[in-house]
Amino acid sequence: MNFELTEEQIAVRDAARDFAQKELLPGVIERDDTQTFPAEQVKMMGELGFMGMMVDPKYGGGGMDTVSYVLAMEEISKIDASASVCMSVNNSLVCWGLEKFGTEEQKQKYLVPLAKGEKIGAFCLSEPEAGSDATSQRTTAEDKGDYYLLNGTKNWITNGNSASIYLVIAQTDPEKGHRGINCLIVERDMEGFVVGKKEDKLGIRGSDTHSLMFQDVKVPKENRVGEDGFGFKFAMSTLSGGRIGIAAQALGIAAGAYELALKYSKERKAFGTEISNHQAIQFKLADMATRIDASRLLCLDAALKKDAKANFTKEAAMAKLFASETAMDVTVEAVQVHGGYGFVKEYHVERLMRDAKITQIYEGTSEIQRIVISRELLK
Ligand code: CAA
Repeated sequence: MNFELTEEQIAVRDAARDFAQKELLPGVIERDDTQTFPAEQVKMMGELGFMGMMVDPKYGGGGMDTVSYVLAMEEISKIDASASVCMSVNNSLVCWGLEKFGTEEQKQKYLVPLAKGEKIGAFCLSEPEAGSDATSQRTTAEDKGDYYLLNGTKNWITNGNSASIYLVIAQTDPEKGHRGINCLIVERDMEGFVVGKKEDKLGIRGSDTHSLMFQDVKVPKENRVGEDGFGFKFAMSTLSGGRIGIAAQALGIAAGAYELALKYSKERKAFGTEISNHQAIQFKLADMATRIDASRLLCLDAALKKDAKANFTKEAAMAKLFASETAMDVTVEAVQVHGGYGFVKEYHVERLMRDAKITQIYEGTSEIQRIVISRELLK
């Protein structure tokens, strides 16, 4: 494995770092407080090419590799995980799936504006009773000849209100189990589509998470992605790639908290010296840095496997499992290093701690990652 970054990858990482410092850092505390979606900043991310990084330039994307995507996700997530989840869903769950499995017409109509960041996409799988158990879809897509009649409710949808293109997973033939599920492209202005309640969340409070309702929405047949019954496999494949993005997000949250703790430890004095001179703090920093480096290696390993077109399901799940647990542990320790200051908003680490928790939950909980990894091991 070669983890040496190319000049292009370094340039992407530095551009993301620069953007995050200049455009995301100011206002990130306020957006978290007021649950404000970073609309202006996401628009800029589109202009800079961060919303469709891996898409072929002929469809408006950046034509970059997954390693570059991981590097950019880490940098953006160090500062604003609400912006990075929007970026991750658009890149991994929506653009990637459309590019790999969509028809040429779907690519021209939907992928191009998504990859350019002119429109935002959402991936709608979770339901009130189907989160981890993704085959138990209650949303139905009844085959009516030249269209599907879509009915049901989706929950916890990232970009729920800011998106205008939605990939909706729904059951067409319950008798066929997961082989009776389809993925349909729904446009925001289709009749019968309603954006429901906004969730008031513990973390990633700037990302807009909504429930969505579909009431007799007529979705044309040409909006089905893949063959009839391919929807579940579509969801599983895109989620595998998505897990690399969320692993990189968790890595960024951990690295952001660590950098703040390191800096603070060299400034804050206690017992007559900087707290970084106390072994209690040094040991914490050593553990944090070690786990962050290990997370980064797992993320890059998964990204390299994906770029090499090898099976990366296990590596993506391992990266997400390890990086998200690291993010949780490291952010808790970063708050501890900051003492009382860590408990107030101004020092950023409490927000990173709250943001870290979701990385152990979405795109498959830690328990789901263990299932995916062990299945791959036992195959
Ligand atoms: N790639 C391609 N196909 C896959 C696959 C993958 N990674 N994983 C499974 N499949 C295929 C299988 O080969 C199988 O196909 P065949 O029957 O033709 O062989 C089919 O899918 C069914 O697979 P399983 O029998 O393994 O399915 P299962 O019901 O046992 O579920 C599971 C497996 C791993 C638990 C799955 O349900 C799962 O991943 N659940 C978690 C879902 C999830 O991540 N939800 C998060 C919502 S999205 C989100 O969070 C977005 C956001 O807001 C940020």
